[in-house]
Amino acid sequence: MNAERKSGKFITFEGGEGTGKTTQIQLLAEGLRAQGYEVVTTREPGGAPGADSIRSLLVSGATDKWDPLSECLLLFAARREHLNKTIWPALRQGAWVLCDRFSDSTMAYQGYGHDVPKALIQSLYDAVVGAFAPDLTLILDLDVETGLDRANARNTETASREDRFERLDRSFHERLREGFLEIARQSPDRCAVISADNSPDVVGASIWKTVESRLDTRMAGA
Ligand SMILES: Nc1ncnc2c1ncn2[C@@H]1O[C@H](COP(=O)(O)OP(=O)(O)OP(=O)(O)O)[C@@H](O)[C@H]1O
Ligand SMILES: [Mg+2]
Repeated sequence: MNAERKSGKFITFEGGEGTGKTTQIQLLAEGLRAQGYEVVTTREPGGAPGADSIRSLLVSGATDKWDPLSECLLLFAARREHLNKTIWPALRQGAWVLCDRFSDSTMAYQGYGHDVPKALIQSLYDAVVGAFAPDLTLILDLDVETGLDRANARNTETASREDRFERLDRSFHERLREGFLEIARQSPDRCAVISADNSPDVVGASIWKTVESRLDTRMAGA
């Protein structure tokens, strides 16, 4: 799928609730823009009009509102729209695309968290996304309690109701964390695990160093 791109890079941010993905995407985007790169930030589920409609079905309401396989199908339908309408066009223009969650979240939440067969999720990936994959996936790792505390504090502050996944029980979130770490072990060339247990600036510096070294790009210090 290299024909989809000029010189843009596709970087995904993954990890459990409240690990700092949204915070760190903004920091990396600012750093890259300061270096003159064109940067598009986007998120899943969502990132395109049809995908945003699907997002609203997924992120609020009762935790058992969807059968996990239905949830997978909705997520991949949204992802297809996101790729076609936002991600691939931006990469073709040469932009760097920073994406807040992507397919590893489906594998972690619905696969490791809800026991949807992992091979089935992989088949959906192959059918919907094809040979395309992120150039780099940053997996933010943090103990579950700290992450949920951070996410709850943020939700109270912003009066967000997008907490359907956060309300799942503690063991679910532990499976998620282990799932992300296992994904990183299985795809070491694509994934880097970043400790998120530090101030945003320190985590951001570690991300900057990783992007610089993994993507073979000359970038001045952030
Ligand atoms: N390194 C950090 N130390 C302390 N607090 C942080 C740190 N990074 C982010 N936060 C705060 O924690 C909350 C959650 O951060 P953020 O929204 O970036 O996480 P997230 O991974 O995007 O969460 P979600 O999975 O719910 O989208 C926010 O209020 C944010 O300001
Ligand atoms: Mg977020």
